[in-house]
Amino acid sequence: MSAWQHWLLERARVREVRGLARATDEATGLYDLASNDYLGLARDPRLAEAAHRATLRHGTGSSASRVVTGTHPVHRELEDGLCRLTGRDEALVFSSGYLANLGILGALGGPGTLLVLDEQAHASLIDGARLARSPLAWTSHHSVKETIDLLASRSQPRAVVVVESVYSVSGDAAPLDELAAACRRYDALLLVDEAHSLGVGTAGGAVRAASLAADPSVVVTATLSKALGAQGGAVLFGGEPAGMLRTHLASTARSFIFDTALAPGSAAAAGEAVRILEEDPALAGLVPERVALMTGTLGRLFPAGSSPGQRNQAEVEVIESGAGAVVSLRVGSAETATMIAAELRGAGIAVGCFRPPSVPDGISRIRLTARATQHPEELVEVLATVARTVSRHARVTA
Ligand SMILES: Cc1ncc(COP(=O)(O)O)c(C=O)c1O
Repeated sequence: MSAWQHWLLERARVREVRGLARATDEATGLYDLASNDYLGLARDPRLAEAAHRATLRHGTGSSASRVVTGTHPVHRELEDGLCRLTGRDEALVFSSGYLANLGILGALGGPGTLLVLDEQAHASLIDGARLARSPLAWTSHHSVKETIDLLASRSQPRAVVVVESVYSVSGDAAPLDELAAACRRYDALLLVDEAHSLGVGTAGGAVRAASLAADPSVVVTATLSKALGAQGGAVLFGGEPAGMLRTHLASTARSFIFDTALAPGSAAAAGEAVRILEEDPALAGLVPERVALMTGTLGRLFPAGSSPGQRNQAEVEVIESGAGAVVSLRVGSAETATMIAAELRGAGIAVGCFRPPSVPDGISRIRLTARATQHPEELVEVLATVARTVSRHARVTA
């Protein structure tokens, strides 16, 4: 056996033993409690038709980077639409949310920029920060005090505080007002990843809802692949330096310059989703309604203090989503989470199974996502199966 084969087998065995193996199985036909299609737009015929028209007109691929010949009218139209929706002044579209985060952190980072990250920041923000060649500092989850201490005592002339408006795994919301005030006070930028808040709760996202859309010290990144049901990412700026920041980003972000532009069909589909949300902003409000139904139902199914665990004494904790579409069940070990997710898959239900490195050791989670199009009665029935399955493996504490 070659050294490579030996190593691959060994790594596979370790993942198996630790419950960290990951699969790419199809979820077709399963009840969806796992996807990020929060508004049910990914299968909306209006988006499919917009994508079809743009594909016929501009091609199946963009053929080049945005800075060569890859920019098509649909890109600019999408950027204008995103600005209207979020109340921001300038936008730059990337071919994914991941690349948007890599791009902006690389463009703002470097040895003279301190990057301050929340300890639960998404992998794309962590990777972007590492690639930026900046000094990095971490804060406890949501800690405004630690953020202020780091900003106040820094030796670098510039700083960017990096957070998610709504955290992807736990579903809780960042204290945007306080963080933005701290950034203004200490001459720093606040980078807010709105992947899980754009189109969720309020159509225009959490930064707009917090009246920060015009704040020049707030930079927003977003993905077009979750509530907007399409594909792609964007960086959005507000206030006076917005134009300068966009130009700087488009001229320096490696994941923008050295990447083929977002396919015209995806850009047009995202543009159509923006149009739908502008026309019917109440659609975004259906998600928190489903979340409330989910947490209420799970709260009843998991009464505090009950202890039905049989095999594994891990603890279950139902985490309220706060602002987003995520309800998270903290179930303890990665093995427990894997067992629960596999059993639910067998029962026809797809749930998110979050294990290290997506979460710290010992707090693996079953992540359930709400969708505007979930039928309330069916949802309650499905949640009863989820609760029964979880209870077989884990002790309930909340
Ligand atoms: C917080 C966060 N940021 C960025 C991304 C990446 O977005 P995309 O899937 O468009 O690359 C995701 C999800 O995948 C996410 O959850």
